[in-house]
Amino acid sequence: MAPAQAFDVLIIGSGAAGLSLALELPPQLQVAVIAKSRLQEGCTLYAQGGISSVTHPEDSFAAHIEDTLDAGAGLNNPDAVRYAIESAPAAINQLVDLGVPFTRHTEADQTQEYHLTREGGHSIRRVLHSADATGKAIEDTLASRARQRSNISLFEQHIAVDLITGTRTGLDINRCLGAYVLDRNQKHVEVFPARFVVLATGGASKVYLYTSNPDTSSGDGIAMAWRAGCRVANMEFNQFHPTCLYHPKAKSFLVSEAVRGEGGRLLLPDGEPFMRRFDPRGDLAPRDIVARAIDHEMKRLGLEYVLLDISHRPAPFIREHFPTIHARCRELGYDMTMEPIPVVPAAHYTCGGVMTDLRARTDIPGLYAIGEVACTGMHGANRMASNSLLECVVFAHAASQDIIAQLDAVPAPPPLAAWDESRVRDSDEEVVVSHNWDELRRCMWNYVGIVRTSKRLQRAARRVQLLLQEIQEYYSNFTISGDLLELRNLAQVAELIIRSAQQRKESRGLHYTLDYPEADTSKPPVDTVLVPDTLQEAAAVRQQSGQ
Ligand code: FAD
Ligand code: SIN
Repeated sequence: MAPAQAFDVLIIGSGAAGLSLALELPPQLQVAVIAKSRLQEGCTLYAQGGISSVTHPEDSFAAHIEDTLDAGAGLNNPDAVRYAIESAPAAINQLVDLGVPFTRHTEADQTQEYHLTREGGHSIRRVLHSADATGKAIEDTLASRARQRSNISLFEQHIAVDLITGTRTGLDINRCLGAYVLDRNQKHVEVFPARFVVLATGGASKVYLYTSNPDTSSGDGIAMAWRAGCRVANMEFNQFHPTCLYHPKAKSFLVSEAVRGEGGRLLLPDGEPFMRRFDPRGDLAPRDIVARAIDHEMKRLGLEYVLLDISHRPAPFIREHFPTIHARCRELGYDMTMEPIPVVPAAHYTCGGVMTDLRARTDIPGLYAIGEVACTGMHGANRMASNSLLECVVFAHAASQDIIAQLDAVPAPPPLAAWDESRVRDSDEEVVVSHNWDELRRCMWNYVGIVRTSKRLQRAARRVQLLLQEIQEYYSNFTISGDLLELRNLAQVAELIIRSAQQRKESRGLHYTLDYPEADTSKPPVDTVLVPDTLQEAAAVRQQSGQ
């Protein structure tokens, strides 16, 4: 259904970030939340391990900060880290108040209200969870609350095509004014005007052939923000989760790091535990180290997978703590209470993204970015487990506060031009889209994966340039579809990832290249910041006019 009038706030994305923001905004504001699939579909729904927060008496903010900085390999923004970690207990209370059913303590841990699990990089148990389906517990709760709010309009199967800014539409307004949105059922592009626009579109892990992510993670928000003139940062840091189930039918089903947190061990086929050869923290080293170690062993021994074994723990414990994983493994013929299961790394999380400040503001006034789409600097070169859901909720809060503070100063946007479809026709060769999807993701997996080289990056850059040209030509001539929009965005994001990786002449965190295998300690670590041409031009004009 077409929106009749401008919304106060347009939120693009309905995961933990988008929905928690919608619920934080005052009820007198008209809020639109759009989701390109069904409301709950997105990474949040599949999050397993949990959400980190200092709640144990022996834990401290200082320890949580130190672990996060250590995982982030010197690139975190300390202010963002401190803000998120110190805001975490309030965020947890907010989720509990909304009704999120976190798993309560066990008999053995009477000091705590909630059971805390442990994951890689954390020096202490500090991860609150809802068994092994924390994301579902959070997403279902937020979605049901949002459905109860009369000021929140929910638009499912609506995919944002591009942001509308004053500068792009020839208006003399330096602001984001809304978005063009394709209603997938009606196959029609609508204008969604809004006083404030928030990107909460999640990450871009679909750019890789093998990923733990659902199909929604096609980097749409990053690509839209880049096209609109926002800086993006640290795109070379793609996190590969070490343990996805290896099975032709598993579609990279994740096996939570909490399995290792509760005693699971990574083994070679002959039963040898190998992680201590790579890091003294063994199986609970940060993810970049574990994924690289697995990749190394698989290549060294020509393996298709390694093994993850928790069968030494009592079967009732495994079934109680990991009901979802246990059930999925059983469906595929493995019994994790009795035997090791085969696992491989897969693309999991986008640490870089649209650059934001501590109030979630981007370079364009009126445009915010929250959740995985954003680069707040919290994760640096490698996100620590369970810090992502936390970032979603705390930066949604920050955005809500900034929007509320500006309400009186920002009028409704002027009338905006309708989407122009006069120069396109229906495609006669859909195969171009499916072929290019496959080629792009395979190229990224093979050349821009866990271990990189300058030559591989160069190869990938050449291929992605060709794909970008072909996709742009196709986009200009044919009627748009969801698949075409996602392909266009993925290709753009791939280009940003490769360009960022080529700029980093060192190995750091998740970016590992055989040509520069060590971190460059000769100077302080720097973010890789990509600046769109439009922003460079605007800066030059400001400089010339002495502003
Ligand atoms: P998402 O939850 O991915 O939501 C994105 C939303 O944007 C969706 O509603 C989608 O429809 C919408 N969208 C995207 N593009 C468009 C568009 N063009 N137009 C309209 N709508 C659009 N993190 C943790 O902290 N703890 C965990 O235990 C954990 N486990 C994980 C397990 C798995 C299997 C995965 C995949 C991730 C896990 N993560 C975990 C990471 C975490 O789940 C995500 O980083 C986080 O949920 C991202 O939330 P989000 O709101 O930013 O985006
Ligand atoms: C997991 O449960 O292993 C995923 C946790 C995360 O990505 O933060």
